Amino acid sequence: IPVAPFVIAVFGATGDLSRRKLLPALFHRDIDGQLPDDAAIVGVSRRPFTDEAFRSFARQALDDHIPAAELVPEYVERFLGRLSYIAADAGREEGWSDLADRMKAAGERIKVYYLATAPELFGPICEKLGKYGLADEARVVIEKPIGKNLASALKLNEEIGRIFPEDRVYRIDHYLGKETVQNLMALRFANALFEPLWNSAHIDHVQITVAEALGVEERAGYYDTAGAMRDMVQNHMLQLLCLVAMEPPSSLDADAVRDEKLKVLRALKPIDEQNFGQLTVRGQYRAGASAGGAVPGYLEELGSSRSQTETFVALKAEVGNWRWAGVPFYLRTGKRLASRVSEIVVEFKPVPHSVFDANVGPISPNRLVIRLQPDEGVKLWLMIKDPGPGGIRLTHVPLDMSFAKAFKVRNPDAYERLILDVVRGNQTLFMRRDEVQAAWEWVDPILNAWRNAKEPPRPYTAGTWGPSAAIALIERDGRTWLEDG
Ligand code: BG6
Repeated sequence: IPVAPFVIAVFGATGDLSRRKLLPALFHRDIDGQLPDDAAIVGVSRRPFTDEAFRSFARQALDDHIPAAELVPEYVERFLGRLSYIAADAGREEGWSDLADRMKAAGERIKVYYLATAPELFGPICEKLGKYGLADEARVVIEKPIGKNLASALKLNEEIGRIFPEDRVYRIDHYLGKETVQNLMALRFANALFEPLWNSAHIDHVQITVAEALGVEERAGYYDTAGAMRDMVQNHMLQLLCLVAMEPPSSLDADAVRDEKLKVLRALKPIDEQNFGQLTVRGQYRAGASAGGAVPGYLEELGSSRSQTETFVALKAEVGNWRWAGVPFYLRTGKRLASRVSEIVVEFKPVPHSVFDANVGPISPNRLVIRLQPDEGVKLWLMIKDPGPGGIRLTHVPLDMSFAKAFKVRNPDAYERLILDVVRGNQTLFMRRDEVQAAWEWVDPILNAWRNAKEPPRPYTAGTWGPSAAIALIERDGRTWLEDG
């Protein structure tokens, strides 16, 4: 079903995000018939492109990121026909009246400004949108990073909030648009089975891993100012933790969900100067090997020998409330790890008493594994009897639901859903201002403790699971990281 007619102006239209994600996502929605005839996309950036040059840029983006079989000429032509371009710079006046004319000509259509630019430009762009009368009734989409710490996030939210009211601000965390992440809500709230067990009486611990096999590649410039804590933990990982830990909202209404997530963020026990040494590990990769062969270390990729930026974080968090008291949430994320795996493992407590003889084998705990990528799916590990005529022997087996095998449909990219949610005016999967701030309130003291300790990140070899201290972090508690839950 097509969404309502809209015009989306993409700032940073000739950048990496636009090329890799936004244009391909809009194209996919177009082929599926979700873009109405008069949906239009206006590219905006500093480059002096013509409409034609922007269309060839977009054509190349589609060629690079869409499987050839889906590039049906008729669809490609229709999509390119929706595109136009305006050169404008947040620091200058040229171009802005043209953009204002273009947006006015769009009449009653829904207007969206997507800021796929460097975050320093969010404030200045919003200011210009206000000045040229472009903000009225329009929606604005902001990409992470939203600030570098609490103070800068407050400032940024303030600058955006001066022009756009909160109910028209869409802060993207693309993890919330991932199919399996939403499935987490379906699993928790559309099944009666889990909720009674979803608490500290029955859950031993939770692990959240977002491991990447790639290094920082051409993003080293940005990455070095951020590090894994700001790049992944402050946003994606904490959002995943919130979805696991939040109380059932009364509905999927945006504020009902976001209120519950906010309570989780506010309940996280502080990690600071006192305890960061026991609860966190930061690492940085050295040269090593990946599936494709030898790979350089982070410092070589960055072209500097001095950086102390972390490319890996492991930490032990705790949500201090009745439901979760004493249940550790182990989080780890990093670049150049052994493989690309993102998953959430919820491990239940062991049975209180075994009725079996010791020789039937150990009774492993039940585990619910939500695999975000690759091979999206859900596994529930159970103990069963090993089939056979002899006496009872026990074995641990997964009830395994692979989405690719169960459903023959293409798994849409997170951006496809999120961009259309902006047009639909649905903010459920977007971060509210107070959520972003609460996440920084928890992260800031960790960053400060690291900075004051002046300890370099622990080295790890590319292609491994990170520094050995990260293994010690969980093994000290008698538990172990589960690589393939
Ligand atoms: C981005 C980070 O937000 O998420 C990147 O800035 C990271 O550093 C990426 O690689 C991971 O996203 P995905 O969807 O590939 O898991």
